Amino acid sequence: MKSVLVPGSGYGRNTKVFSEEFKTFGVELSVEALKMATEWDSRSLFILGSVLDSILEEKVDAIYCYDMLHLFLEEDRRRLVANCLEQLQPDGWLYFTSFSDEDANNGCGALLEPGTYEI
Ligand SMILES: C[S@@+](CC[C@H](N)C(=O)[O-])C[C@H]1O[C@@H](n2cnc3c(N)ncnc32)[C@H](O)[C@@H]1O
Repeated sequence: MKSVLVPGSGYGRNTKVFSEEFKTFGVELSVEALKMATEWDSRSLFILGSVLDSILEEKVDAIYCYDMLHLFLEEDRRRLVANCLEQLQPDGWLYFTSFSDEDANNGCGALLEPGTYEI
């Protein structure tokens, strides 16, 4: 494995784990988070943009998507996963985490769609 994409890279804590060893990309919507990430992890290449668009010009060997999936409604969740697959090398690795429906906070706030709440 040589390259990793971190969709929704925040301030860079995920990318920093990889960037010493792999060519690492972070895609992030927040300008402020992106600025912090660039300072925190100078080895990664950060791209300002949405994970709902296919941004990378090259395919990566792995995608590490930490705590992003549950931020979106179903249509955009499918778009995020489809974009990830499009940017992944054949036989590449996908790693996704998501908020658990067993978490004590599950069910808080308005119901947005089945199984998805505002908070
Ligand atoms: C819960 S945080 C997780 C950040 C990072 N994965 C981590 O573990 O530190 C979600 C991040 O996704 C970013 N984000 C939300 N929607 C996005 C989008 N459509 N495209 C890119 N980034 C997005 C937010 O700005 C935030 O930094």
